[in-house]
Amino acid sequence: MKIWGILEVEKNIIYEAIVTTSSDSGETNIAPMGVIFTGEDSFLLRPFTDTTTYRNLREQGEGVVNITRNPEHFILSILPPLRKDIALEDSRRVKTSRLKDAEAYLEFIVEKIMEDGGRAEVSCKIIEAYRGGELIQPYSRAAYALIEAAIAATRVRVFLGRERRLIELLDDIERCRRTVVRVASEGRFRTLLERLLEEVRRMIGHASST
Ligand SMILES: Cc1cc2nc3c(=O)[nH]c(=O)nc-3n(C[C@H](O)[C@H](O)[C@H](O)COP(=O)(O)O)c2cc1C
Repeated sequence: MKIWGILEVEKNIIYEAIVTTSSDSGETNIAPMGVIFTGEDSFLLRPFTDTTTYRNLREQGEGVVNITRNPEHFILSILPPLRKDIALEDSRRVKTSRLKDAEAYLEFIVEKIMEDGGRAEVSCKIIEAYRGGELIQPYSRAAYALIEAAIAATRVRVFLGRERRLIELLDDIERCRRTVVRVASEGRFRTLLERLLEEVRRMIGHASST
């Protein structure tokens, strides 16, 4: 299925993207989120109800899906002190800003919200879609291992009190760490990995000292 002539996707697959939303006061929030396409101009987001993304979607009813495969976007956006290092710029039709160097943008409005326990299903309608800067990057296992590690890292905080699940998450992160170290022993990917691991250690250390 082609989205506005720019994006080839399949229905019912979770794609990972960076969603920007804005608060009442106009502050931009940046978070990785899964996107599930349901039609040529519609998709679902499934934010946990305790996220800022969810609050902003409910209150402002709009946002931008920033299509990117750059692991830097995923890692920096989940590390609050580093989020400010992500460059933003004005979008075309929504007031929420977009990432400066994503590969494509889907500007959207919220059509329907359903809450189910701790998670919501937000139906969104694309009102503008266009390409960003073209990025031709050969496949690197490190890039995808980093994004996988980022997903596990965002769940660590949630499972701090549940030892078995926590161990599974730490195992996942360790597997990703080994891949990154093997194929990108130095450079930007390695630095991103170290920053992510620092944050995971900080969360675990903080939990065990309280
Ligand atoms: C690749 C990736 C995909 C993610 N998908 C989701 C998702 O679909 N729903 C969700 O609530 N959190 C998801 N997360 C976790 C959120 O990005 C994370 O909890 C974030 O801190 C929420 O930020 P916010 O409170 O600023 O909105 C994902 C994380 C990563 C790294």
